[in-house]
Amino acid sequence: MAGNMTFTIIKPTAIKNNYAGAILKMINEAGFVIKALKFTRISKTQAAAFYAVHEGKPFFKNLIKFMSSGPIITAILEKENAIEDFRELIGATNPENAKEGTVRKLFACSMTENAVHGSDSDENAQIEADFFFNRLEIYY
Ligand code: CMP
Repeated sequence: MAGNMTFTIIKPTAIKNNYAGAILKMINEAGFVIKALKFTRISKTQAAAFYAVHEGKPFFKNLIKFMSSGPIITAILEKENAIEDFRELIGATNPENAKEGTVRKLFACSMTENAVHGSDSDENAQIEADFFFNRLEIYY
């Protein structure tokens, strides 16, 4: 699936605000196929492990606290050119810089509470997907 797969998280505030359905609809309408889907919640330790690459950065503690503050939805998505196309669909990390019509422009509250996560490379998509899903939970 290399090159055709990405991984996403719908973050706690977006879930709390009841945006999950609207976000998943946008994802489907943009041509992504959902290969795995999970409604779950992670601990601070698990959030720190998932975002380990950001450890030591000024926003790390806040990010970990936020990501463990409530339920999330995680998904593996398939589409040609998945990484780039998904990042285009969700918009800039900082919602203030996100283009009109993107997921983050429509549904994010702030840089940390930016509605969704999207993988930044094929390699990280695989690592992130493996963090949340086992083989039996992925429908090829
Ligand atoms: P995400 O795509 O989940 O990947 C890492 C997250 O860290 C990012 O979205 C933001 O929520 C958060 N983040 C990245 N940079 C900053 C920053 N400068 N200030 C606050 N949060 C940040």
